Amino acid sequence: MSSTSSSQMVQLVADKHVRYILMAEKKESFESVVMDHLRMNGAYWGLTTLDLLDKLGCVSEEEVISWLMTCQHESGGFAGNTGHDPHILYTLSAVQILALFDKINILDIGKVSSYVAKLQNEDGSFSGDMWGEIDTRFSYIAICCLSILKCLDKINVEKAVKYIVSCKNLDGGFGCTPGAESHAGQIFCCVGALAITGSLHHVDKDSLGWWLCERQLKAGGLNGRPEKLADVCYSWWVLSSLIMIDRVHWIDKAKLVKFILDCQDLDNGGISDRPEDAVDIFHTYFGVAGLSLLEYPGVKVIDPAYALPVDVVNRIIFTK
Ligand code: FPP
Ligand code: ZN
Repeated sequence: MSSTSSSQMVQLVADKHVRYILMAEKKESFESVVMDHLRMNGAYWGLTTLDLLDKLGCVSEEEVISWLMTCQHESGGFAGNTGHDPHILYTLSAVQILALFDKINILDIGKVSSYVAKLQNEDGSFSGDMWGEIDTRFSYIAICCLSILKCLDKINVEKAVKYIVSCKNLDGGFGCTPGAESHAGQIFCCVGALAITGSLHHVDKDSLGWWLCERQLKAGGLNGRPEKLADVCYSWWVLSSLIMIDRVHWIDKAKLVKFILDCQDLDNGGISDRPEDAVDIFHTYFGVAGLSLLEYPGVKVIDPAYALPVDVVNRIIFTK
C-alpha cells in the first residue's frame, strides 16, 4: 500500500464508527438537534454505513420504520423529519432506508412514485419540491427513486436524459443547470442517472475521466473542483463516477485509502472531511462508502449508482 508499509498503516476502526453512529442517532446529541430537519438524510447515511459494516442488526428496524412513516405526507412524499415539508431528497432517503430493510412493500408505491413523477417539468428537468428549484441533483434523485420502486415508466425518461445531457460541459463534466460549472457532486448525479437509465453513451469518458482524476491532490485526497481542498466526501462523488465510466485505474487508490483512514477519530469513532477536523455522520458515511469502492477488506461492496450495498440492489433488481 503506497509508500507506507502496512504495519504503519492506520486501520479502519469499524467498531468505533458503529458506536459513533449509534450514539449520533440518540435524540439528545448536539448533532441530531442541529440536523433535526434533515434527520431522514442522517438516518440514510448512518444506516447505510452500519449495513456496509454488516451491523444493521444493531438498530431496531421497527423503531426506524415507525418513525420513518410519520414523515410521509398525504402527497406521498417524505419530509426530513416528523412535521416538516416533503422534498424529493428525503423521499429518496426514505425509499433507500426501506430498501436496506427489505421493506419497500409497506409503501403505497403508486402514491410515492406519483409524488416524484409530478416533479418532472416540461423540459425533462426535475424540481425538488413544490417551490420549484431545478437542479440535476433532483434528476438523479427522481430516477434512482423510481428505479428502486420499478416505476421509471411514470416519467418521460428520454426527456430526463436530454435535460441531463444539456448540462454537460466542454470539459466532459456536468453542472446543476445548463451552462453551470462542472462540480464532482453534480457529475455523480448526472453519471448515476445516465447509468441507471442505460444512457452512459452520452458521456465523454476520456475527458470526464481526466477531469475527475485531476481531483486527486498530493496527499491522496480528492477535491470537488479545481483549487479546492481535498474532502473525504469527494472520495464518493469522484470515485463512484470514475467507476461508472470505467476509469478508476486513473487514480492512486492506495493514497486515497490512506487519506480516508487519516480522517478517522481513532478514539471516539467517526470520520471528518479532512485530517484533524471534527467528525460528522455525513463524512463517516462517505468515508466508509469510499473505502467500499476501494475494496477495503471487511466493508461490503456498494453500488456506485444507487449508493446502496450491492446485495440490496441485487435483491431489488432481481425480484419481481
Ligand atoms: C456536493 O455538495 C454534492 C452534491 C452537489 C451532490 C448531492 C447529491 C445528492 C443530494 C443526491 C443523493 C446522494 C446520494 C449519495 C444518494 P456540497 O454542497 O457539499 O458541495 P461543496 O463541497 O461545493 O460545498
Ligand atoms: Zn465534504
